[in-house]
Amino acid sequence: MPEFSKGLEGVVAAETEMSFIDGQHGVLEYVGIAIGDLARSSTFEETVYLLWNKKLPTQAELDAFTKGLRDNYDPPAGVLELVKNMPKDAQPMHVLRTLVSSLALFDPNPNANDVPAAREKALKILAATPAIVAAFDRHRRGEKFVPADKSLGFSENFMYMLNGEKPTAAMARAFDICMITHADHGLNNSTFTARVVISTLSDLYSAMTAAIGSLRGPLHGGANEGVMVMLNELESVDEAEAYVTNKLKNKDKIMGFGHRVYKSKDPRASELQTLARQLAEDTGNMDLYEKSHAIEEVMEREVASKGIYPNVDFYSATTYHCIGLKLDLFTPMFALSRLAGWSGHVIEQLEDNRLYRPTTNYVGPHKVAYTPIEKR
Ligand code: SDX
Repeated sequence: MPEFSKGLEGVVAAETEMSFIDGQHGVLEYVGIAIGDLARSSTFEETVYLLWNKKLPTQAELDAFTKGLRDNYDPPAGVLELVKNMPKDAQPMHVLRTLVSSLALFDPNPNANDVPAAREKALKILAATPAIVAAFDRHRRGEKFVPADKSLGFSENFMYMLNGEKPTAAMARAFDICMITHADHGLNNSTFTARVVISTLSDLYSAMTAAIGSLRGPLHGGANEGVMVMLNELESVDEAEAYVTNKLKNKDKIMGFGHRVYKSKDPRASELQTLARQLAEDTGNMDLYEKSHAIEEVMEREVASKGIYPNVDFYSATTYHCIGLKLDLFTPMFALSRLAGWSGHVIEQLEDNRLYRPTTNYVGPHKVAYTPIEKR
Protein backbone atom coordinates (compact mmCIF):
# COMPACT_ATOMS: atom_id res chain seq x y z
CA MET A 1 0.00 0.00 0.00
CA PRO A 2 1.24 3.56 -0.78
CA GLU A 3 2.69 5.42 2.24
CA PHE A 4 -0.10 7.25 4.17
CA SER A 5 0.96 10.72 5.33
CA LYS A 6 -1.60 11.99 7.89
CA GLY A 7 -2.48 15.59 7.13
CA LEU A 8 -0.38 15.23 3.96
CA GLU A 9 2.65 16.14 6.09
CA GLY A 10 5.74 16.37 3.91
CA VAL A 11 3.83 15.64 0.68
CA VAL A 12 4.71 17.84 -2.30
CA ALA A 13 1.35 18.58 -3.96
CA ALA A 14 2.24 21.58 -6.13
CA GLU A 15 5.10 23.61 -7.55
CA THR A 16 5.10 27.37 -7.12
CA GLU A 17 7.23 30.40 -7.93
CA MET A 18 5.67 32.55 -5.20
CA SER A 19 6.70 31.59 -1.64
CA PHE A 20 9.80 29.77 -0.53
CA ILE A 21 9.78 28.57 3.08
CA ASP A 22 12.75 27.06 4.93
CA GLY A 23 11.13 25.81 8.13
CA GLN A 24 14.36 24.78 9.81
CA HIS A 25 16.01 28.18 9.41
CA GLY A 26 12.93 30.41 9.61
CA VAL A 27 13.18 31.74 6.06
CA LEU A 28 10.26 33.09 3.98
CA GLU A 29 10.78 34.67 0.57
CA TYR A 30 8.19 35.94 -1.93
CA VAL A 31 9.63 35.29 -5.41
CA GLY A 32 13.06 35.15 -3.77
CA ILE A 33 12.76 38.40 -1.77
CA ALA A 34 13.01 38.04 2.03
CA ILE A 35 9.76 38.81 3.86
CA GLY A 36 11.62 41.23 6.16
CA ASP A 37 12.82 43.28 3.19
CA LEU A 38 9.29 43.43 1.78
CA ALA A 39 7.75 44.29 5.17
CA ARG A 40 10.23 47.15 5.61
CA SER A 41 10.39 48.47 2.04
CA SER A 42 7.38 47.37 -0.01
CA THR A 43 3.64 48.06 -0.07
CA PHE A 44 0.77 45.58 -0.22
CA GLU A 45 -0.07 46.63 -3.80
CA GLU A 46 3.54 46.12 -4.90
CA THR A 47 3.69 42.76 -3.09
CA VAL A 48 0.54 41.55 -4.83
CA TYR A 49 1.99 42.59 -8.19
CA LEU A 50 5.19 40.67 -7.30
CA LEU A 51 3.26 37.51 -6.40
CA TRP A 52 1.02 37.62 -9.47
CA ASN A 53 3.70 38.61 -12.00
CA LYS A 54 6.79 37.02 -10.42
CA LYS A 55 8.71 40.29 -10.56
CA LEU A 56 8.71 43.72 -8.92
CA PRO A 57 6.85 46.31 -11.02
CA THR A 58 8.31 49.38 -12.69
CA GLN A 59 6.69 52.61 -11.52
CA ALA A 60 4.46 52.62 -14.60
CA GLU A 61 3.42 49.00 -14.02
CA LEU A 62 2.70 49.71 -10.35
CA ASP A 63 0.66 52.81 -11.20
CA ALA A 64 -1.42 50.83 -13.70
CA PHE A 65 -1.95 47.95 -11.25
CA THR A 66 -2.86 50.31 -8.42
CA LYS A 67 -5.35 52.10 -10.69
CA GLY A 68 -6.90 48.75 -11.56
CA LEU A 69 -7.43 48.02 -7.88
CA ARG A 70 -8.80 51.48 -7.07
CA ASP A 71 -11.20 51.39 -10.01
CA ASN A 72 -12.71 48.26 -8.42
CA TYR A 73 -12.84 49.28 -4.75
CA ASP A 74 -16.64 49.45 -4.86
CA PRO A 75 -18.45 46.08 -4.85
CA PRO A 76 -21.53 45.62 -7.06
CA ALA A 77 -24.50 47.54 -5.62
CA GLY A 78 -26.36 44.26 -5.27
CA VAL A 79 -23.73 42.97 -2.86
CA LEU A 80 -24.03 46.10 -0.71
CA GLU A 81 -27.80 45.50 -0.66
CA LEU A 82 -27.12 41.99 0.64
CA VAL A 83 -24.96 43.47 3.42
CA LYS A 84 -28.02 45.32 4.69
CA ASN A 85 -29.83 41.97 5.07
CA MET A 86 -27.05 40.31 7.06
CA PRO A 87 -28.02 39.57 10.69
CA LYS A 88 -26.18 42.12 12.83
CA ASP A 89 -24.96 39.37 15.15
CA ALA A 90 -23.56 37.24 12.31
CA GLN A 91 -19.88 36.35 12.58
CA PRO A 92 -17.79 38.41 10.14
CA MET A 93 -16.02 35.36 8.67
CA HIS A 94 -19.39 33.77 7.83
CA VAL A 95 -20.52 37.07 6.28
CA LEU A 96 -17.26 37.32 4.33
CA ARG A 97 -17.57 33.78 2.99
CA THR A 98 -21.20 34.42 2.02
CA LEU A 99 -20.66 37.78 0.33
CA VAL A 100 -17.46 36.89 -1.53
CA SER A 101 -19.46 33.98 -2.91
CA SER A 102 -22.27 36.39 -3.86
CA LEU A 103 -19.89 38.38 -6.09
CA ALA A 104 -20.37 35.59 -8.66
CA LEU A 105 -24.08 36.50 -8.95
CA PHE A 106 -23.20 39.95 -10.32
CA ASP A 107 -20.52 38.76 -12.75
CA PRO A 108 -21.93 38.32 -16.29
CA ASN A 109 -19.38 35.58 -16.96
CA PRO A 110 -18.73 33.96 -13.55
CA ASN A 111 -17.33 30.66 -14.79
CA ALA A 112 -14.66 32.02 -17.11
CA ASN A 113 -11.34 30.63 -15.94
CA ASP A 114 -8.93 31.17 -18.77
CA VAL A 115 -5.88 32.81 -17.19
CA PRO A 116 -6.64 36.40 -18.34
CA ALA A 117 -10.20 36.09 -17.02
CA ALA A 118 -8.92 34.59 -13.78
CA ARG A 119 -6.51 37.49 -13.31
CA GLU A 120 -9.27 40.02 -13.89
CA LYS A 121 -11.62 38.32 -11.43
CA ALA A 122 -8.86 37.95 -8.86
CA LEU A 123 -8.16 41.69 -9.03
CA LYS A 124 -11.85 42.57 -8.68
CA ILE A 125 -12.37 40.23 -5.72
CA LEU A 126 -9.24 41.51 -3.94
CA ALA A 127 -10.20 45.13 -4.59
CA ALA A 128 -13.83 44.86 -3.45
CA THR A 129 -13.51 42.65 -0.38
CA PRO A 130 -12.30 45.40 2.00
CA ALA A 131 -15.55 47.27 1.32
CA ILE A 132 -17.55 44.12 2.11
CA VAL A 133 -15.87 43.77 5.52
CA ALA A 134 -16.13 47.49 6.29
CA ALA A 135 -19.75 47.73 5.14
CA PHE A 136 -20.82 44.81 7.34
CA ASP A 137 -19.03 46.16 10.41
CA ARG A 138 -20.73 49.53 9.98
CA HIS A 139 -24.07 47.83 9.27
CA ARG A 140 -23.91 45.86 12.54
CA ARG A 141 -23.07 49.10 14.38
CA GLY A 142 -26.05 50.86 12.78
CA GLU A 143 -23.73 53.15 10.84
CA LYS A 144 -24.10 54.16 7.20
CA PHE A 145 -21.78 52.60 4.62
CA VAL A 146 -18.76 54.78 3.73
CA PRO A 147 -17.98 54.62 -0.02
CA ALA A 148 -14.36 54.03 -1.01
CA ASP A 149 -11.97 56.90 -1.54
CA LYS A 150 -10.13 56.04 -4.74
CA SER A 151 -7.33 58.44 -3.88
CA LEU A 152 -6.29 56.15 -1.03
CA GLY A 153 -4.16 52.99 -1.06
CA PHE A 154 -5.55 49.56 -0.24
CA SER A 155 -4.87 49.68 3.51
CA GLU A 156 -5.65 53.36 4.01
CA ASN A 157 -8.92 53.02 2.12
CA PHE A 158 -10.01 49.99 4.14
CA MET A 159 -9.46 51.83 7.41
CA TYR A 160 -11.24 54.91 6.00
CA MET A 161 -14.28 52.83 4.99
CA LEU A 162 -14.25 51.07 8.37
CA ASN A 163 -13.90 54.12 10.62
CA GLY A 164 -15.28 56.94 8.47
CA GLU A 165 -12.04 58.86 8.81
CA LYS A 166 -8.58 58.53 7.31
CA PRO A 167 -6.05 56.69 9.51
CA THR A 168 -2.78 58.23 10.59
CA ALA A 169 0.14 57.44 8.28
CA ALA A 170 1.62 55.24 11.04
CA MET A 171 -1.55 53.17 11.41
CA ALA A 172 -1.99 52.82 7.65
CA ARG A 173 1.63 51.67 7.35
CA ALA A 174 1.19 49.19 10.21
CA PHE A 175 -1.87 47.71 8.52
CA ASP A 176 0.01 47.51 5.22
CA ILE A 177 2.83 45.57 6.89
CA CYS A 178 0.21 43.11 8.18
CA MET A 179 -1.15 42.76 4.66
CA ILE A 180 2.35 42.16 3.25
CA THR A 181 3.30 39.53 5.84
CA HIS A 182 0.04 37.56 5.44
CA ALA A 183 -0.17 37.58 1.63
CA ASP A 184 1.18 34.14 0.73
CA HIS A 185 2.68 31.11 2.43
CA GLY A 186 3.16 28.06 0.26
CA LEU A 187 0.60 25.28 0.34
CA ASN A 188 -1.12 26.12 3.63
CA ASN A 189 -4.52 24.57 4.17
CA SER A 190 -6.61 27.40 2.66
CA THR A 191 -4.32 27.79 -0.35
CA PHE A 192 -4.40 24.05 -0.95
CA THR A 193 -8.21 24.27 -0.69
CA ALA A 194 -8.29 26.94 -3.39
CA ARG A 195 -6.05 24.89 -5.68
CA VAL A 196 -8.11 21.74 -5.14
CA VAL A 197 -11.33 23.55 -6.05
CA ILE A 198 -9.98 25.28 -9.19
CA SER A 199 -8.35 22.02 -10.34
CA THR A 200 -11.84 20.80 -11.33
CA LEU A 201 -11.98 23.90 -13.60
CA SER A 202 -14.53 25.40 -11.28
CA ASP A 203 -14.44 29.20 -10.82
CA LEU A 204 -12.58 31.88 -8.86
CA TYR A 205 -15.57 32.62 -6.62
CA SER A 206 -15.93 28.97 -5.59
CA ALA A 207 -12.19 28.69 -4.95
CA MET A 208 -12.00 31.89 -2.85
CA THR A 209 -15.17 30.99 -0.93
CA ALA A 210 -13.79 27.54 -0.08
CA ALA A 211 -10.48 29.06 1.01
CA ILE A 212 -12.23 31.51 3.33
CA GLY A 213 -14.06 28.56 4.88
CA SER A 214 -10.75 26.84 5.52
CA LEU A 215 -9.04 29.93 6.92
CA ARG A 216 -11.74 30.42 9.56
CA GLY A 217 -10.58 27.32 11.42
CA PRO A 218 -8.79 27.94 14.76
CA LEU A 219 -5.90 25.72 13.68
CA HIS A 220 -5.30 28.08 10.73
CA GLY A 221 -6.31 31.72 10.30
CA GLY A 222 -8.67 31.70 13.26
CA ALA A 223 -5.69 31.43 15.62
CA ASN A 224 -5.13 35.21 15.75
CA GLU A 225 -8.52 35.62 17.41
CA GLY A 226 -7.63 32.77 19.78
CA VAL A 227 -4.43 34.58 20.75
CA MET A 228 -6.39 37.70 21.68
CA VAL A 229 -8.83 35.66 23.77
CA MET A 230 -5.82 34.17 25.59
CA LEU A 231 -4.25 37.59 26.22
CA ASN A 232 -7.57 38.88 27.57
CA GLU A 233 -7.89 35.84 29.87
CA LEU A 234 -4.51 36.62 31.44
CA GLU A 235 -5.07 39.09 34.29
CA SER A 236 -1.40 40.05 34.43
CA VAL A 237 2.07 39.18 33.15
CA ASP A 238 2.71 37.31 36.40
CA GLU A 239 0.00 34.78 35.48
CA ALA A 240 1.69 33.78 32.23
CA GLU A 241 3.88 31.07 33.74
CA ALA A 242 1.03 29.21 35.47
CA TYR A 243 -1.37 29.76 32.55
CA VAL A 244 0.98 28.29 29.96
CA THR A 245 2.32 25.40 32.02
CA ASN A 246 -1.24 24.43 32.99
CA LYS A 247 -2.40 24.43 29.36
CA LEU A 248 0.61 22.38 28.30
CA LYS A 249 -0.02 19.91 31.11
CA ASN A 250 -3.61 19.50 29.84
CA LYS A 251 -2.25 18.99 26.29
CA ASP A 252 -4.11 22.16 25.22
CA LYS A 253 -2.69 23.97 22.18
CA ILE A 254 -1.41 27.50 22.82
CA MET A 255 -2.82 29.62 19.99
CA GLY A 256 -0.23 31.43 17.89
CA PHE A 257 2.42 28.76 18.44
CA GLY A 258 3.53 25.79 16.42
CA HIS A 259 3.59 25.22 12.70
CA ARG A 260 3.59 22.31 10.29
CA VAL A 261 6.60 23.71 8.46
CA TYR A 262 8.44 26.13 10.77
CA LYS A 263 10.51 24.39 13.44
CA SER A 264 12.08 27.74 14.33
CA LYS A 265 10.55 31.18 14.85
CA ASP A 266 8.28 32.18 11.96
CA PRO A 267 10.05 35.18 10.36
CA ARG A 268 6.66 36.89 10.07
CA ALA A 269 6.28 36.61 13.85
CA SER A 270 9.55 38.47 14.26
CA GLU A 271 8.46 41.25 11.90
CA LEU A 272 5.07 41.55 13.58
CA GLN A 273 6.65 41.44 17.04
CA THR A 274 8.66 44.57 16.23
CA LEU A 275 5.53 46.24 14.90
CA ALA A 276 3.40 45.10 17.86
CA ARG A 277 5.87 46.50 20.37
CA GLN A 278 5.99 49.89 18.64
CA LEU A 279 2.21 50.09 18.31
CA ALA A 280 1.69 48.92 21.90
CA GLU A 281 3.96 51.71 23.14
CA ASP A 282 2.22 54.28 20.93
CA THR A 283 -1.30 53.23 21.97
CA GLY A 284 -0.88 52.45 25.68
CA ASN A 285 -1.21 48.69 25.21
CA MET A 286 2.17 47.62 26.55
CA ASP A 287 0.41 45.18 28.89
CA LEU A 288 -0.63 43.13 25.83
CA TYR A 289 2.89 43.11 24.46
CA GLU A 290 4.40 42.22 27.84
CA LYS A 291 1.92 39.36 28.34
CA SER A 292 2.78 38.09 24.84
CA HIS A 293 6.49 38.30 25.53
CA ALA A 294 6.06 36.50 28.86
CA ILE A 295 4.11 33.69 27.16
CA GLU A 296 6.81 33.44 24.52
CA GLU A 297 9.51 33.11 27.18
CA VAL A 298 7.68 30.27 28.95
CA MET A 299 7.01 28.51 25.64
CA GLU A 300 10.65 28.94 24.66
CA ARG A 301 11.72 27.16 27.84
CA GLU A 302 9.03 24.46 27.74
CA VAL A 303 8.58 23.46 24.08
CA ALA A 304 11.18 25.10 21.83
CA SER A 305 13.01 21.76 21.98
CA LYS A 306 9.96 20.26 20.21
CA GLY A 307 10.21 22.86 17.46
CA ILE A 308 7.24 24.86 18.74
CA TYR A 309 7.75 28.60 18.25
CA PRO A 310 5.55 31.66 17.66
CA ASN A 311 3.85 31.73 14.27
CA VAL A 312 2.39 34.60 12.26
CA ASP A 313 -0.75 34.75 14.40
CA PHE A 314 0.94 35.34 17.75
CA TYR A 315 1.92 38.99 17.41
CA SER A 316 -0.62 39.86 14.72
CA ALA A 317 -3.25 39.76 17.48
CA THR A 318 -1.64 42.61 19.45
CA THR A 319 -0.95 44.49 16.22
CA TYR A 320 -4.58 44.34 15.05
CA HIS A 321 -5.83 45.29 18.52
CA CYS A 322 -3.55 48.35 18.63
CA ILE A 323 -4.68 49.36 15.15
CA GLY A 324 -8.18 49.45 16.67
CA LEU A 325 -9.75 46.40 15.05
CA LYS A 326 -12.42 44.40 16.86
CA LEU A 327 -11.40 40.85 17.79
CA ASP A 328 -13.79 39.17 15.34
CA LEU A 329 -12.27 41.19 12.48
CA PHE A 330 -8.79 39.72 13.00
CA THR A 331 -9.32 36.65 10.83
CA PRO A 332 -11.12 38.64 8.12
CA MET A 333 -7.93 40.76 7.96
CA PHE A 334 -5.94 37.61 7.32
CA ALA A 335 -8.38 36.77 4.52
CA LEU A 336 -8.16 40.26 2.95
CA SER A 337 -4.44 39.71 2.54
CA ARG A 338 -4.42 36.01 1.69
CA LEU A 339 -6.82 36.56 -1.20
CA ALA A 340 -3.62 37.64 -2.97
CA GLY A 341 -1.86 34.33 -2.32
CA TRP A 342 -4.96 32.24 -3.00
CA SER A 343 -5.46 34.01 -6.34
CA GLY A 344 -1.81 33.64 -7.31
CA HIS A 345 -1.96 29.90 -6.63
CA VAL A 346 -5.23 29.55 -8.53
CA ILE A 347 -3.59 31.24 -11.53
CA GLU A 348 -0.56 28.93 -11.24
CA GLN A 349 -2.90 25.94 -11.05
CA LEU A 350 -4.80 27.06 -14.16
CA GLU A 351 -1.53 27.57 -16.05
CA ASP A 352 -0.58 23.91 -15.53
CA ASN A 353 -3.62 22.12 -14.23
CA ARG A 354 -4.21 18.49 -13.29
CA LEU A 355 -7.25 17.45 -11.25
CA TYR A 356 -6.37 16.83 -7.59
CA ARG A 357 -7.51 13.35 -6.70
CA PRO A 358 -5.42 11.64 -3.97
CA THR A 359 -6.11 8.08 -2.96
CA THR A 360 -6.75 6.18 0.27
CA ASN A 361 -5.59 2.96 1.82
CA TYR A 362 -8.80 0.99 2.31
CA VAL A 363 -8.64 -0.50 5.80
CA GLY A 364 -12.24 -1.77 6.02
CA PRO A 365 -13.63 -5.31 5.54
CA HIS A 366 -14.10 -7.19 2.22
CA LYS A 367 -16.66 -9.69 0.83
CA VAL A 368 -19.25 -8.92 3.51
CA ALA A 369 -22.70 -10.52 2.88
CA TYR A 370 -25.73 -8.19 2.70
CA THR A 371 -27.98 -8.93 5.72
CA PRO A 372 -31.69 -8.16 5.21
CA ILE A 373 -32.95 -5.62 7.72
CA GLU A 374 -35.30 -8.05 9.44
CA LYS A 375 -32.27 -10.18 10.31
CA ARG A 376 -30.02 -7.41 11.69
C1 SDX B 1 -1.30 29.47 10.24
O1 SDX B 1 0.42 26.15 7.04
C2 SDX B 1 0.62 27.45 7.04
O2 SDX B 1 1.52 27.98 6.40
C3 SDX B 1 -0.32 28.22 7.94
C4 SDX B 1 0.00 29.72 8.11
C5 SDX B 1 -0.17 30.50 6.82
O3 SDX B 1 0.48 31.54 6.67
O4 SDX B 1 -1.06 30.09 6.01
O5 SDX B 1 1.33 29.86 8.58
C6 SDX B 1 -0.97 30.36 9.10
O6 SDX B 1 -2.27 28.75 10.18
C7 SDX B 1 -0.38 29.42 11.40
C8 SDX B 1 -0.82 28.37 12.49
C9 SDX B 1 -1.94 29.00 13.33
N1 SDX B 1 -2.49 27.99 14.24
C10 SDX B 1 -2.24 28.03 15.57
O7 SDX B 1 -1.51 28.87 16.10
C11 SDX B 1 -2.99 26.98 16.38
C12 SDX B 1 -2.04 26.30 17.37
N2 SDX B 1 -1.08 25.51 16.62
C13 SDX B 1 -1.29 24.09 16.52
O8 SDX B 1 -2.64 23.70 16.43
C14 SDX B 1 -0.34 23.40 15.55
O9 SDX B 1 0.93 23.83 15.85
C15 SDX B 1 -0.57 23.51 14.06
C16 SDX B 1 -1.96 23.15 13.66
C17 SDX B 1 -0.27 24.89 13.57
C18 SDX B 1 0.40 22.54 13.37
O10 SDX B 1 -0.02 21.29 13.74
P1 SDX B 1 0.72 19.94 13.30
O11 SDX B 1 1.86 20.21 12.37
O12 SDX B 1 -0.32 18.98 12.85
O13 SDX B 1 1.39 19.47 14.66
P2 SDX B 1 0.63 18.59 15.76
O14 SDX B 1 -0.70 19.16 16.11
O15 SDX B 1 0.69 17.16 15.29
O16 SDX B 1 1.57 18.79 17.03
C19 SDX B 1 2.84 18.11 17.14
C20 SDX B 1 3.19 18.15 18.61
C21 SDX B 1 2.05 17.64 19.50
O17 SDX B 1 2.63 17.14 20.70
P3 SDX B 1 2.73 15.53 20.86
O18 SDX B 1 1.30 14.99 20.78
O19 SDX B 1 3.62 15.04 19.75
O20 SDX B 1 3.33 15.36 22.25
O21 SDX B 1 3.41 19.51 19.01
C22 SDX B 1 2.41 19.87 19.98
C23 SDX B 1 1.29 18.89 19.84
O22 SDX B 1 0.56 18.79 21.05
N3 SDX B 1 1.94 21.22 19.61
C24 SDX B 1 1.59 22.16 20.50
C25 SDX B 1 1.22 23.28 19.73
N4 SDX B 1 1.35 23.00 18.43
C26 SDX B 1 1.81 21.73 18.36
N5 SDX B 1 1.53 22.14 21.83
C27 SDX B 1 1.10 23.28 22.44
N6 SDX B 1 0.73 24.40 21.78
C28 SDX B 1 0.77 24.44 20.43
N7 SDX B 1 0.42 25.54 19.78
